[in-house]
Amino acid sequence: MLTARAQRTLETIDGQTLDEMRALRDETERFMLRYKFGMDEVITKLSILREEFSQTHDYNPIEHISSRLKSLDSVIEKMQRKGVDPSFETIRETITDIAGVRVTCSFVSDAYRIFELLTAQRDIRVLRVKDYIKEPKENGYQSLHVIVEVPVFLSTGAHPVAVEVQIRTIAMDFWASLEHKIYYKYDRQVPQELLDGLTDAAHTAAELDARMERLHREVHGAPPATVLGVHPVAGQAGIDV
Ligand code: GTP
Ligand code: MG
Repeated sequence: MLTARAQRTLETIDGQTLDEMRALRDETERFMLRYKFGMDEVITKLSILREEFSQTHDYNPIEHISSRLKSLDSVIEKMQRKGVDPSFETIRETITDIAGVRVTCSFVSDAYRIFELLTAQRDIRVLRVKDYIKEPKENGYQSLHVIVEVPVFLSTGAHPVAVEVQIRTIAMDFWASLEHKIYYKYDRQVPQELLDGLTDAAHTAAELDARMERLHREVHGAPPATVLGVHPVAGQAGIDV
């Protein structure tokens, strides 16, 4: 229900402007929906890999899959922060994390394996890779980021959609979620002592990952060869593909 004031304001808007507003609303909804579809496709691909691994290899490299669609407000805020034109075309080109999928794995080798298996798929185009596992951020953040483009097939044809996929271990995820909370609690002005403590904790998490990986190998042997045989990311950290 509209308030009386909103109703009066609405009455001052002429019919043509109202039609234009409706058209913009509909176009925005269609624009955002494509990202949801692209995200759903990536989730399906990962879920298939997960299920296939459990069935055929009796092993599950994926612990957890989560996803989020950026809110329209956040898209607008990022667009303003980056100083980009308010056009759908520019948003499509510059804001590549509207659709986000996060994959949590037990081991670092699993994170790379999932990356390989996903990016080797024929309908996936890799737009950008950032390997913060090989080269952690200064604060200690570790994660493997890839922006992929998937075709979404609509009644109007195929529409390529960018989806940001973050792949990391449970330990890296634990660290990142705590760091994120602290960052917001202190409104981005985190005391140096706490920052140092976080970086130190990130090193501990990396050590734990390395130890767990060693133990895992002792029990299961080296991970089986993957479709590509090697970790393709190792040589292309941070490079736009
Ligand atoms: P954004 O514009 O913030 O999306 O960054 P970017 O385009 O430079 O991409 P980058 O791959 O560096 O980061 C993308 C996303 O990774 C962020 O939106 C966060 O979700 C996550 N991320 C990156 N750095 C950190 C970090 O230091 N701490 C945590 N907790 N998350 C991070
Ligand atoms: Mg982001």
